[in-house]
Amino acid sequence: MKPLLKAQNLTVAVRKGKKWITVVDHINFDIKQGEIIGIVGESGCGKTLTALSIMGLLGAHAKIAEGELLFKTVDLQAISRQEKQRLMGYEIAMVFQEPMTALNPLMKIGEQLAEPLRLHGITDRKMIHDKVIEILHEVELSEPERLMQAYPHQLSGGMRQRVMIAAAVICRPKLLIADEATTALDVTVQAQILQLLKKLNQTMGLSILFISHDLGVIRAICDKVMVMYAGKIVEQGSVGNIFYHPLHEYTKGLFGAIAVPEKKGLPLSNIPGKVPAVGEKRLGCPFALRCPKVQDICLSAFPSEIALGENHSVNCALVEADREVEYVQI
Ligand SMILES: Nc1ncnc2c1ncn2[C@@H]1O[C@H](COP(=O)(O)OP(=O)(O)OP(=O)(O)O)[C@@H](O)[C@H]1O
Ligand SMILES: [Mg+2]
Repeated sequence: MKPLLKAQNLTVAVRKGKKWITVVDHINFDIKQGEIIGIVGESGCGKTLTALSIMGLLGAHAKIAEGELLFKTVDLQAISRQEKQRLMGYEIAMVFQEPMTALNPLMKIGEQLAEPLRLHGITDRKMIHDKVIEILHEVELSEPERLMQAYPHQLSGGMRQRVMIAAAVICRPKLLIADEATTALDVTVQAQILQLLKKLNQTMGLSILFISHDLGVIRAICDKVMVMYAGKIVEQGSVGNIFYHPLHEYTKGLFGAIAVPEKKGLPLSNIPGKVPAVGEKRLGCPFALRCPKVQDICLSAFPSEIALGENHSVNCALVEADREVEYVQI
């Protein structure tokens, strides 16, 4: 099956003074229709910038410096502003961590949900009303007529996140990007939102790019996972392979770490050392200086991707040197 989204050598740079510094570094990945793919990695490794580059929302201080982003057959960097506006929200949509900042506090829920429909050319009031009611049912919010009249502050955090998801999917996009979409919620509500996303994935055939610090959450919802470290994807594969047969020392280290929002920016507790600073010049594997198995070979060049079957690949010179590693695919 052709991928819905294909990132090839995607490289994102941010402006630091007069210089542009690479923060997402030649990454490659595919998202197929109906797939849920996770990105996991420590704070600052480039997860959000990867998402924003797909949405065309990098702003003035960040840019795609190299590489390609293809959505179906459309080159996302080559399209006009109008075409981008049509695509975003309509075919690709995004939900963020904090719904209170993304929702307009002065607008009733019904109006906020109607907005994406109007933006995409639906003007018939009855049709808009019906679609809003329908999507509120789909995201399992009760009393939709009453809810349409409410303002965001009158809703609980979980309800607001459901409204955000409703606004994102009301135009029936093909791809939803969820950036830490459940991180601010308590565990019970988080589980309900994950269940909802999974349901929408199944009923709408929605592909989801799911970004999280939390491995437990990733395991609960994703089919595949990409592990990012300092702007590089160091390992990717099916959830089964990554969780039960991690090969990169960084991935192995992640499993012992507890991901909580308060730890944002701190190094993972069980991996000594810290993430390289943004723009820090380094040859070789970015994890080499923290890797318990580091060898000279790791310091010379970033290792090429080694594919281990269809559902697992890793960039590690040590794995390459030891190709005979016994490998069981799940
Ligand atoms: N607009 C910007 N201008 C300058 N630097 C930026 C900008 N956005 C992000 N950065 C830097 O780029 C790096 C990657 O940021 P990004 O937000 O993608 O990380 P992240 O993996 O999403 O982290 P977190 O888990 O904390 O959300 C960080 O070092 C960050 O400081
Ligand atoms: Mg982020």
